[in-house]
Amino acid sequence: MEETVRLTDADRDAMLRAAVAAPSMHNTQPWRFRFAGRTVEVHRDRARELPAEDPSRRMLYVSLGASIFNLRVAAAALGMGSAVRHLMEQRRPDLVAVVELDAPLSGEMAGLAPYLSERRTNREPFSDVRVPDQIRAELGLSARVEGAVLQWIDRPPMQWWLRMATTDAMTADDQSRGRTAERRRWVGGDRADDGVPSSALGPRVAGGDPVVRDLAATGADELRPVADFERAPQFAVLATRYDGPIEWLRAGQALERVLLEATAHSVSTSLLNQVIEHEGLRWQINDPLGPWQRPQAVIRFGYGPPVPPTPRRPIADVLIRD
Ligand SMILES: Cc1cc2nc3c(=O)[nH]c(=O)nc-3n(C[C@H](O)[C@H](O)[C@H](O)COP(=O)(O)O)c2cc1C
Repeated sequence: MEETVRLTDADRDAMLRAAVAAPSMHNTQPWRFRFAGRTVEVHRDRARELPAEDPSRRMLYVSLGASIFNLRVAAAALGMGSAVRHLMEQRRPDLVAVVELDAPLSGEMAGLAPYLSERRTNREPFSDVRVPDQIRAELGLSARVEGAVLQWIDRPPMQWWLRMATTDAMTADDQSRGRTAERRRWVGGDRADDGVPSSALGPRVAGGDPVVRDLAATGADELRPVADFERAPQFAVLATRYDGPIEWLRAGQALERVLLEATAHSVSTSLLNQVIEHEGLRWQINDPLGPWQRPQAVIRFGYGPPVPPTPRRPIADVLIRD
């Protein structure tokens, strides 16, 4: 077998910095990485999971998928191609994927590298400017390349369903002690290296329509100022054909590719995922006529003001050393 070049510490650190920059539910950063030759193992971190809000662990796997995609972008920027083996091995239950760095290089992936640190979840009001069709098409293509589809929620009946289902999910969230307690642990206040700080919550939506998720978990955050949001929010559902951990890892890679592509076009994004977190409501946002029936994320697109980055853990904390 051909002798392969080992990664330098600088290569490894660049990939880790990219991986931890990924979005994750409540900024839990539920990942750990082990470098072995020209492969990177991706492990779940069970101490950072959300059993009440994410009982199936769908959001966990989607978050892990997003970090895998960032790793691949960083590898491409370093001149390395990547292929992902998604794993569900009983002997190593925390290992979810292995990224092989000996695969053919994809040029367009490296082009996303400048946006790894620029991407943000933006919970501020967006302007009423419509994302042009050309950009919508490119975002759709980004999802497709990673094995998912992006369904724009443009038709009024779909918008109505999304609004109703999300409102139901919000009520169910507020009535669940377990979910509220989890949010309180991860959201609000000043945050040093994980969780969602109060400063990232954005204002409350005047009128209370579900345009952006109100993650407030403390009395102080519940009294944030109110603002007018865009009149016609632009939502799209990211969906896959099947369900299950491997599909969710793929959905996470597709999600991050879409978010980075949006960032590259100066399009702001946030997620409105409550409805995905409730199995009983999730089916309501399926497109009954479409073949893609497994919604994995609800993304809001538009043009918002700049927002600051949220904190991340030091890369030494996510590196598994032998
Ligand atoms: C699977 C997943 C689900 C998420 N769900 C929501 C959501 O419903 N509402 C929301 O405002 N943000 C949501 N987020 C965004 C995270 O809160 C955000 O990524 C995290 O706080 C880090 O901030 P950043 O994206 O600005 O880096 C989600 C992110 C992921 C990956």
